[in-house]
Amino acid sequence: CESQDFRISKQRLLVVANRLPVSAVRRGDDSWQLEISVGGLVSALLGVKEFDTRWIGWAGVNVPDEIGQKALTKALAEKRCIPVFLDEEIVHQYYNGYCNNILWPLFHYLGLPQEDRLATTRSFQSQFDAYKKANQMFADVIYEHYEEDDVVWCHDYHLMFLPKCLKEHNSKMKVGWFLHTPFPSSEIHRTLPSRSELLRSVLAADLVGFHTYDYARHFLSACTRILGIEGTPEGVEDQGKLTRVAAFPIGIDSDRFIRALALPQVQDHMKELKERFAGRKVMLGVDRLDMIKGIPQKILAFEKFLEENPGWRDKVVLLQIAVPTRTDVPEYQKLTSQVHEIVGRINGRFGTLTAVPIHHLDRSLDFHALCALYAVTDVALVTSLRDGMNLVSYEFVACQASKKGVLILSEFAGAAQSLGAGAILVNPWNVTEVASSIGYALNMPANEREKRHHHNFMHVTTHTSQEWAATFISELNDTIVEAQLRTIQ
Ligand code: G6P
Repeated sequence: CESQDFRISKQRLLVVANRLPVSAVRRGDDSWQLEISVGGLVSALLGVKEFDTRWIGWAGVNVPDEIGQKALTKALAEKRCIPVFLDEEIVHQYYNGYCNNILWPLFHYLGLPQEDRLATTRSFQSQFDAYKKANQMFADVIYEHYEEDDVVWCHDYHLMFLPKCLKEHNSKMKVGWFLHTPFPSSEIHRTLPSRSELLRSVLAADLVGFHTYDYARHFLSACTRILGIEGTPEGVEDQGKLTRVAAFPIGIDSDRFIRALALPQVQDHMKELKERFAGRKVMLGVDRLDMIKGIPQKILAFEKFLEENPGWRDKVVLLQIAVPTRTDVPEYQKLTSQVHEIVGRINGRFGTLTAVPIHHLDRSLDFHALCALYAVTDVALVTSLRDGMNLVSYEFVACQASKKGVLILSEFAGAAQSLGAGAILVNPWNVTEVASSIGYALNMPANEREKRHHHNFMHVTTHTSQEWAATFISELNDTIVEAQLRTIQ
């Protein structure tokens, strides 16, 4: 009897997202400096040990020359990352244009671009063509690296055209697609000129996932109303092919945040912050500087609170961390000026020679500084006008074990469905309601804060990102086995 090798090799997982989890900067000598950015998706997949994971995505930089591309590919390979090289024109049309000026606002209920309708209609087609072309470029890189039995997990609104490309190339590929934004009501989705093509392409996947049941329901009703395909409790069945559609709410790597709080550098940051804001309650907002985050609405609500509660004016401070994002898109540039204008006006109105009510920073913070800030905060304010999930609310809760601060959370964030019982839910458009919730949160008795915090903390520490990723992939594997059984029967 021949000796056998009983080592079981791990199943390979190809994670495909617009952005790789590393950012690359070219040095003068043509070598590359890489920095890992640990976002929700990265930490989710770091925790899933049973797969041999590789990432495929855009490196976020333009590398026109072959020498640079080769060097970057080599450097990224060490991080198990595979780059897709997109030139400037494609990035402009696909990423700035179709992804961030059309799909992103539409999926967040902000509608299609209004200005100069004719120009928009004309550029719409070229942007959609670039979108398809970019998706095809991602597909080409996947074909090059794909091995039989790999699981291919595509992420987000940037890559809705990808499942179709992959399945047309190889119908046996195991393809999952997950949307990190809301999927809007079918009434919104049907305004999109390429509505049917995108839906059909996503349906080529074996499993389609959303953060909430509502988003999955909207997707199913878009399939019914736009494509005329009825949903089933399992998903969508068209011409004998079943696409499973389900909700998989993401979480965070809560242990990473909890562990960080004990680190000396985090403790030092906390001490500094406590001294700096001694005698004042700290309110915190942490957002990408994006119109969906409702930053102007949040600041206006804070202004209303100060206006109506003069006694609090020198006893509370709002720290708003606004991380610049998509700065080449005009809407984002306009938002930056708008927010600066409002902050300046309110600080001018309520500031004193020694203190201002709003500290607004246009930058990100490193992980340790962020954990310290979460930990010393009394009230966190998340006022997204729409948000797929919003993990800032989870991160805040994870860091509040000793302080037990209050979370004010928009009812239009996916997180409202999981943290709703512990948070104060608000309609961010209703400035009066948010202002009075600020007052309620600042005055909340300790026992109520404890009860609310306990509820949220239990949720955040048990529904982790690792569990999310493992559940999605095991559901994808099951879906494929079931489909194989159906064809045999
Ligand atoms: C959202 C999207 C992600 C995206 C992130 C940052 O969370 O769902 O796919 O990566 O924003 O945006 P950016 O455009 O900088 O990648």
